[in-house]
Amino acid sequence: MGILSLEETPILQALIRLSQKNRQPLHVPGHHLGRDLPPLFADWLGPAARLDMTELPGLDNLHHATECIAESEQLAATHYGSGRCFFSVNGSSACIMASIYAVVRPGRQKVVLVGPFHWSVWRGVEMAGATPLVFPSRFDRESLLALHPPVDSVRVALAGYTDIAAVVITSPVYAGIVAPVADWVQLAHEFDCPLIVDEAHGPHFGLCSSLPPHSVSHGADLVVQSVHKTLPALGQTAWLHVSGRRVEEEAVEDALLRFTTTSPSYLLLASLDVAQAWLRTEGAVIASRAVATLGLFDEMHGLSRDAERMDGLRRWWPIGNAAAALHLERLLEAEGIFVEYVDPSGALFLFPYSVRVRELERLGAVLDVWRPANDQRDAKLLDALRFVSERHVNLVVGKPAALTHTKRRWCRARQAMGQLAARVVVPYPPGVPILLPGERIEPGHVEALICLAELDRIPVGSRVGQAGLELSILAD
Ligand SMILES: Cc1ncc(COP(=O)(O)O)c(C=O)c1O
Repeated sequence: MGILSLEETPILQALIRLSQKNRQPLHVPGHHLGRDLPPLFADWLGPAARLDMTELPGLDNLHHATECIAESEQLAATHYGSGRCFFSVNGSSACIMASIYAVVRPGRQKVVLVGPFHWSVWRGVEMAGATPLVFPSRFDRESLLALHPPVDSVRVALAGYTDIAAVVITSPVYAGIVAPVADWVQLAHEFDCPLIVDEAHGPHFGLCSSLPPHSVSHGADLVVQSVHKTLPALGQTAWLHVSGRRVEEEAVEDALLRFTTTSPSYLLLASLDVAQAWLRTEGAVIASRAVATLGLFDEMHGLSRDAERMDGLRRWWPIGNAAAALHLERLLEAEGIFVEYVDPSGALFLFPYSVRVRELERLGAVLDVWRPANDQRDAKLLDALRFVSERHVNLVVGKPAALTHTKRRWCRARQAMGQLAARVVVPYPPGVPILLPGERIEPGHVEALICLAELDRIPVGSRVGQAGLELSILAD
């Protein structure tokens, strides 16, 4: 294993070289290597502003990579064992939309969505003009999580279909639970289509034996990873792996162009570059040390973790009670602890690689204060959570794209029952839609949404009017 040095990072190296030569910047970005940045911000950004350049000689072009960007992408692909790795400065969202867009074509217009899926999956289906086949999640009453349905149930339901463009799964789900990806690969291939894995939360997978393997190693055709989520990298960084022969690299490259800026930030590209080098050098040692330290958290709270099925760097704390969730959030904030999210179903803690024992103790102390008075689960809330996870999505209009320009109006949530939703309604985080356009609004949707609104978590796609929560419905 090498050490993380400039030798391992072709993009950063090229940027540093050029910034040393660049004495008179007459190009974008408009801050001109930081010279024109207002000091209020320049002081925070520091020397990094000198690296925020554009497609100058030697810096390659993200959309036609042949030099340092291509070299860095190749190093990332080699680390994972994928056929090709494309860098993204538009997060996993762009990669997911591009993946779906790349595989939908005449004769292959149906996209199978399995279990909980991120909002961008829906947008991908909509923009590709595809028809979704939605397979609901299985609600686990113990962990209060929406998990993947059994592979065989989907296999049986799909029997006879010959026009499937792709199967899409999310693994791991936000809380860190991994799907049996190899089984989903097999299923997709039985239908002669690729498996797209939204592995936004798993770019660190496979780094050491105490973490689950990544989906490329299971044979998934397209794997999307948010580098910024779990590797030491800047916000918005992500990459997309293409493997095998089912998907043409060129189709993916073309599709990515549709969803990506033509002015990618070189700070983000440098960050992707450093992330791939970190993975190949010191990452394994650092990750396994962090996972081991987190074992103490499990000991403190009597938890157990299956290393094959659960992320080692995050912990999910099920709650199942809106008031208790709010109470926990307040106690944590009072201690200066800000977690990934807290909602009525539970709290999600994402630990840094540099996690310290005393930080675990501080978090543990808050949990110990909170726990005795907050162990009652709210049965009504649990029913609502189960409903939104396991609901059978009955879309009145098969192609989401057909609804884009239809007339709509706002309506009080309770009066919207029985109407058809006009917009995706999605609490963020976790970004998993509760209502989809064209879906009939049922009491379970409304209960779940009102519960979130009471916690001040107004789901994206809804709004609060004078009389409370409102939903957008299709006008008659
Ligand atoms: C499961 C999942 N997929 C995709 C995304 C989108 O990732 P990005 O924020 O990198 O665009 C998210 C973001 O939260 C996510 O949770």
